[in-house]
Amino acid sequence: MKNTIEYLLKLREEAKLGGGHKKIEEQHKKGKLTARERLEILLDEGSFQEIDMFVRHRAHDFGVDKSRPLGDGVVTGYGTIDGRLVFVFSQDFTVFGGSLSEAHAEKICKIMDLAMKVGAPVIGLNDSGGARIQEGVASLGGYAEIFLRNTLASGVIPQISAIMGPCAGGAVYSPAITDFIFMVKNTSYMFVTGPNVVKTVTHEDVTFEELGGAMVHATKSGVAHFVCENDVECLMHIRKLLSYLPSNNMEDPPRIETGDDPNREDPKLDSIIPDNPNKPYDMKEIILSIVDNGEFLEVHEYFAQNIICGFARLDGYSVGIVANQPAVLAGVLDIDASVKAARFVRFCDAFNIPIITFVDVPGFMPGTDQEWRGIIRHGAKLLYAYCEATVPKVTVITRKAYGGAYDVMSSKHIRGDINYAWPTAEIAVMGPKGAVEIIFKKEIEKSENPDELEEKLIQEYRDKFAHPYIAAERGFIDDVIEPRKTRQMLIKALKMLENKVDTNPKKKHGNIPL
Ligand code: HXC
Repeated sequence: MKNTIEYLLKLREEAKLGGGHKKIEEQHKKGKLTARERLEILLDEGSFQEIDMFVRHRAHDFGVDKSRPLGDGVVTGYGTIDGRLVFVFSQDFTVFGGSLSEAHAEKICKIMDLAMKVGAPVIGLNDSGGARIQEGVASLGGYAEIFLRNTLASGVIPQISAIMGPCAGGAVYSPAITDFIFMVKNTSYMFVTGPNVVKTVTHEDVTFEELGGAMVHATKSGVAHFVCENDVECLMHIRKLLSYLPSNNMEDPPRIETGDDPNREDPKLDSIIPDNPNKPYDMKEIILSIVDNGEFLEVHEYFAQNIICGFARLDGYSVGIVANQPAVLAGVLDIDASVKAARFVRFCDAFNIPIITFVDVPGFMPGTDQEWRGIIRHGAKLLYAYCEATVPKVTVITRKAYGGAYDVMSSKHIRGDINYAWPTAEIAVMGPKGAVEIIFKKEIEKSENPDELEEKLIQEYRDKFAHPYIAAERGFIDDVIEPRKTRQMLIKALKMLENKVDTNPKKKHGNIPL
C-alpha cells in the first residue's frame, strides 16, 4: 500500500514539472509564469481541483512517442473565484509548445462539458503553438471539437480567454468564439500564421509584435478586449471581470454591497455639457461620477474609442454601460464603434445584465471609406442588437441624438424601458447646419447675404428642435431630468425593472447582419 501511494505521489510530482526545469526556466526568462503558477493566482487559494493529470498523448509519428509527458501540455480542472465555481484550462508551453494534441483537446472538452452541465464559466489560459503538427488531422479534429463546444456554450455560460504566449492557428480561433479576450503586453501574440509563413505567402517582413501583439489587437483589429502589463495583472483582471457576471444565463449577476449612497447627487454634472454644442467633453467623467464608487471596468478601452462600453455597478447591481464619446470623433457611429457596441449589448442581453445607454451622437459616419466597407451592414448590427435585447434598458440623452443614431441608441421605439433626457438634449433628424443647408438650399443661394440668412435659419432651427421637449411631448422621452440626479434616477428605474419579463418571437435564431 505504502509503495502504491509513493508511486502516485511520484507521478504527481512528475506531472507538476511539465516540460522540466530547463523549460520552466526558459518560460520565466520570457517574463511568463507557468501554467500551474497562473492557476494559483487566478483561483481562490487552495481551491483548484485538477482533472486528468495522468493523461498522455497516444501519437507515434515523427518520434513523438519518445516523449509522453503526464498531462500532455494542459492543466485542467475546476476551482473558485470569490467563492464561485469556475472551470479552467491552462496550456503548458513547456510541453510541445503547448500545442494541441487529440488527448490535450479531450481534456479541454471534458471540463467544458462539465461546465455546461453545472452552469459555470470556463476560463482558458492559452499559450500554444496551435495544432500539434505531429498528430495531423487528429489534432485538427481536437480543435474542431473545442470550437463546437465554444459555440454551443456561447450565451449559456461566460467563456473567457487569456492569451499568455504566442498563439497561432487553432489556438486563436477558440478564443475568438469566446466572450472576452485578454492579452498580455510583450509576451502574447495572436495570428493565424506567424511571421515566417507571412514572409513566404505575402513577402511581408513583419515582427511578432507588429503582426499580432497585444496593442495591435487592442487598437487595430479589436480582437483583444483587455490588455494587461503582465501575467499577474491579467489574472487579477479576469477575477474582476467575473465579479460582474452571473455564472450562467439562467442566473442574475451577483449583487455586491458597495457602500455608495444610491441617492448621491453630483452638482458638477449640471454644468458638464459645454455651452457650444460643437465642443467636446469627456463622457467618461459622467460615467465615473454616476456609478458606484467611480468603478468602471472598460471593455475594448483602446478600440473604437468613439464609443465606450464597460461594466459597473449601480447600488450594487451589475450593469453594462454603452456611451457615445463626444471627445473622440465627436462620438460618431462608425463601423468599429457599431460592431464593438453590438457585441457588448448582445453579451449583456445573453447574461441578464441591464444596459444603461448614454447618448451624445451626431449620426453615422459618412464617406466612401465607411460606405465601401459596409457601414450600412455593420451599423445594422448595433440596431439589431438593441432591438432584440430584452434585459432592462435605460437611456439618458445628454446632448445630441441625431438621425438614425437617435433610433439606434436604445430609443423608446426599440424597447427602451425608461428614456431620460438632460435639458441639454437635442433630438432631431440632423444637426442644425446640415438641416438648414438642405431645407433652405434655394433661399440661401438666392439671398444677397447668404451667411447671415443661414445663421438666422440655424438659430430658428435650434430654437425649434434643439431640445428634448418635442420628444417628451410625444412620450418618446419619459422625463427630462436634472443631470445631478441621474444616479438616483437610474437606480430607481433599475429597481422598478428588476422583475422585467420580455420575450422575442419563437425562432431557431435570428439572422443578424454579419
Ligand atoms: C508541435 C510545436 C508546435 C506545434 C511549437 N512546437 N509549435 N510542436 N506542434 N504546432 C514546439 C517546438 O517544436 C518546440 O519544441 C517548442 O514547441 C517551443 O517552440 P519554439 O518554436 O522553440 O518557440 P518560440 O520560438 O517561442 O515560437 C513559438 C511559436 C512557434 C510562434 C508558437 O513554435 C510556431 O510558429 N509554431 C507553429 C505555429 C503554427 O503555425 N501553428 C499552426 C498549426 S495549424 P522543442 O522540442 O524544440 O522544445 C492549426 C490549425 C488549426 O493550428 C485549425 C484552426 C481552424
